[in-house]
Amino acid sequence: MPFRIIRNDITKVEADAVVNAANSSLLGGGGVDGAIHRAAGPELLEECRTLGGCETGQAKITKGYNMPCRYIIHTVGPVWQGGGSGEKGLLYSCYEKSLQLAKEYNCESVAFPLISSGVYGYPKDKALQVAVSAITEFLSENDMDITMVVFDKNAVLVSENILDNVRKYIDDNYVEEHSDNAGRSTFVAGFSMIYEKMPEDVCCAPARFSFDKLDESFSQALLRLIDEKGMTDVQVYKKANIDRRLFSKIRSDVNYKPKKQTAVAFAIALELDIPETQDLLEKAGYTLSNSIKFDVIIKYFIENRNYNIYEINETLFSFDQSLIGV
Ligand code: APR
Repeated sequence: MPFRIIRNDITKVEADAVVNAANSSLLGGGGVDGAIHRAAGPELLEECRTLGGCETGQAKITKGYNMPCRYIIHTVGPVWQGGGSGEKGLLYSCYEKSLQLAKEYNCESVAFPLISSGVYGYPKDKALQVAVSAITEFLSENDMDITMVVFDKNAVLVSENILDNVRKYIDDNYVEEHSDNAGRSTFVAGFSMIYEKMPEDVCCAPARFSFDKLDESFSQALLRLIDEKGMTDVQVYKKANIDRRLFSKIRSDVNYKPKKQTAVAFAIALELDIPETQDLLEKAGYTLSNSIKFDVIIKYFIENRNYNIYEINETLFSFDQSLIGV
């Protein structure tokens, strides 16, 4: 998955490069800076001493030493002063310069903390929006696995309003399933439950399952839908946050069976409605069921026609669910 958001201690994350939220002296500090220096060991500070500091919005690179990475990219975020002192541009530049350095050093994977959102006081939701826009802009032209590593639950914010709506939707729709063959009964129950709840004009809609497509594989259905939606392969796998290599595997293997999160990611990228999503998932042996919280959250976003994969992933993350994409 080219971009994912995970909750972890960044010093534990393996990547070609790990980005440090440093200060302009580059001589260490608290927060991420302190954690990275402790994990990397004293040689990191020795190399940092040779760099002559770093300006806000810029980035410099050192070796990774004892950290599980080849390089550490040190960038200095802006201190939040209310938003009127160019903070957004400087923060955007931190991601941009760090990614340029990572590309220059042939890194295939980079892990970021949420820069400036700690000691420097940048509101976390605003900081995340800047990070996501800078990272997605970079990914529209480049291939790299980028991970946003957030250290606490509150760091990954969708608007409280969305979270409240999803909470209510889960209360109204989520049905605990306690059967020992939950998988099968969920499959069956979920399916019938969905169709029980579907409005008449949908559940009996003709042709959604047009029988000539019954033996269509997931891969064939996906390629057909890409054509029907007038999209290109690149548009779809980038919007689905799916790695190019995985997409070409699916394209070339007519019987490829993706993970459920991958199949759902394609449904979101194609902006399918519920019946179309069920149809596509079924080709890979899955369904959206009311007894799986992940499924209920996905149904919420599809029924509300919100196909913003970052909001979906941030919401899934907030409910401790796996994220969509590979
Ligand atoms: N792993 C991942 N994220 C972390 C970790 C960790 N081990 N520790 C803290 N964070 C998160 C914080 O929760 C926050 O969301 O990183 C984000 C950035 O927080 P800071 O580390 O305080 O960085 P920043 O806000 O950019 O302030 C930089 O703080 O540590 C000093 O020397 C640093 O002066 C500089 C200033």
